[in-house]
Order: sequence, then structure tokens, then C-alpha cells
Amino acid sequence: MANENLHKANKAKNDEFYTQLSDIEKELRHYKQQFKGKTVLCNCDDPRVSNFFHYFSYNFDVLGLKKLIATCYKNQDADLFSENKSEQAIYLEYYGDKNGNNVPNPEEIGIKPLKGDGDFRSKECIELLEQADIVVTNPPFSLFREYVAQLVEYDKKFLIIGSKNSITYKEIFKLIKENKIWLGNGFDNGNAYFRTPYANNYAEGVYNAETGLVKFRNVGWFTNMDFSKRHEDLILYKTYNSEEYPKYDNYDAINIDKTADIPMNYDGYMGVPITFLDKFNPEQFEIKGIDRYVEDNPTFGHRFTINGKEIYARILIKNKRIREE
Ligand SMILES: C[S@@+](CC[C@H](N)C(=O)[O-])C[C@H]1O[C@@H](n2cnc3c(N)ncnc32)[C@H](O)[C@@H]1O
Repeated sequence: MANENLHKANKAKNDEFYTQLSDIEKELRHYKQQFKGKTVLCNCDDPRVSNFFHYFSYNFDVLGLKKLIATCYKNQDADLFSENKSEQAIYLEYYGDKNGNNVPNPEEIGIKPLKGDGDFRSKECIELLEQADIVVTNPPFSLFREYVAQLVEYDKKFLIIGSKNSITYKEIFKLIKENKIWLGNGFDNGNAYFRTPYANNYAEGVYNAETGLVKFRNVGWFTNMDFSKRHEDLILYKTYNSEEYPKYDNYDAINIDKTADIPMNYDGYMGVPITFLDKFNPEQFEIKGIDRYVEDNPTFGHRFTINGKEIYARILIKNKRIREE
């Protein structure tokens, strides 16, 4: 039993991280015009603690929204770690300010009970998803693959937070390669801070007791909504030479350790770190795949090596502009 509880707690631990309003404001700035006349769904959001609900309800008129829906998950593993302490899973619908005070009042927010626990995969939550044009939230990190698969299946626009580790998942990378999902603008200097109830789980410097915030280096925004930075060329200044850019033992591509070092004149495949995706402009580069799962990788399922040494996660890209010139 103790083990089972620990397991449940460990699982829940990955999921309770609350997004700051300032981070939502900074990211949303890049997509504002795309929200006009749209129904927005926040489907992992207890309105009492979610800044996503706060952002969209307070900016309802500025964005010109049609409707805002939020669903609140009743965590079945309700324990010390969870702030989702609702007795009942609920959803709410907001159609904007009615009494002219520009603030969402309780009587303007229609709160209704859900039959189940508010799991985003449940039938009733999928019915709400079907009404939505755009889904915006920070979903549970532990269910990211399933969460994204559902958004793609229902053909929704989305702007969500996730761990950048998920880029290397086969299913997620396939979507990146097909230009069905990409990284958003991102957190300031790549540092994301979340409020969390798990203060004791972190080393000094990671959790700040004064602010109550935990810092993650490897978290980003994932989206299928366009924004201008995505169409800016990465400025390249280096030229290719075989010493600085060795080829892999097991694939015909050169290795690059830093995105900024991509040579401007190499006309073959290049292996770049996943941080490249922060700078990826699909008009400038083609993505062939990610090392382990590149279709013609002779050692499929394994990473590339140089002199027998494995090189960590590399995305294979090709410069499209060289051909154009
Ligand atoms: C990373 S937290 C983010 C919470 C909120 N969206 C925010 O950004 O502040 C993810 C939330 O999803 C909830 N959750 C976990 N499993 C869920 C599920 N199957 N369906 C819906 N929500 C779930 C968790 O309890 C947690 O509160």
C-alpha cells in the first residue's frame, strides 16, 4: 500500500505545476489576432488556481473571443501533492462581460457539474473539445503524448506548454517533421518558473521558498499557430570544413554541436541539437528526421556515433536556401 501511494504520488508529482500569468501574457502576445471570434478551451484548468482561465476571462473583450470554456479535473489521487481539491469535477462557460464592469463576475460564469472526473479524454470533455477552436493550457506532463494526439485527431489549433524532452518522442517528432506542431516563442532565456506544491522535492537553487516557484530549463510552448519569428532566417556566418564538422560513423551527415555553428554552405544533411527548433524556419531548412528514427538509419533505433562514441539527440536538417541560390 505504501508503495502504491508512493507510486501514485510520484505520478501526480509530475503534473501539478501552475503557470504564471506573466508567462501566459508574454506568449499570447504573438498570436492575439488569431483569437478573434474564437471559442477557447482550457481543459486542464481549475478556474480557482489557473492563470489561463484568468487571462482569457479578463482579456475576453480585448481578444474578441466568442466563448471561453474551462474544465477542472477532480484528481482521483487527491493527496497532499494536488491542489485540485474539488469535490466535484466541473466545467464552466463564459460569454464575456454582461454588466459593463469589465470583470468576470461569478454570476456571469456558468459553472456546471461534470458526470465524470474531468479527464480530458472522457466523452463529455471531448464534446467540449469539439466546440472549441483553440485549446490553450499547460497539460499534465505525464500525459503529453496522448494529449497532443487528441488535439491532432480533433484538428484543433493549440498553444500548450510541455517538456522539451518530448521532442525526441517518436510520435511528437513525426508531427514536428510534418510541420503539424512547432515550438512557440518560448520562456525568457529558456527559464520557466511554475508554482508547485512540491517544495521539498527540489535542490537549493531550483525551488525558491520566497517566491514558491520551481525553475525548469527544459520546458517550452508547443503550437500549430503561426507567428512571425517562425519565418525569420537564422543568420549563418560559418563556412564548412571537414575538421570542424566530422561525419557520423553510421550516417552520411556532418555533426554540429551548436545551432549557431551551422555552416552556410553545406549542401548535405547536418545533425543539429534539438535547441535548433527554437530557431527553425521551415522556409530556410528541411527536417529529415531525428537520429534514432530517421527512416534510412542503418542502425534504426540507435543514435549516431563518431569514432564509436554516441552523440546525444541530433535532428537531421538540410539548408534549402543553398539550392535556391
Ligand atoms: C501542469 S498542471 C497545469 C495546471 C494549469 N493548466 C496551469 O497551467 O496552471 C496540469 C494539470 O492537469 C491536471 N490533470 C492531470 N491529469 C488530467 C487529466 N487526465 N485530464 C485533465 N486534467 C488533468 C493536473 O491535476 C494538473 O492540475
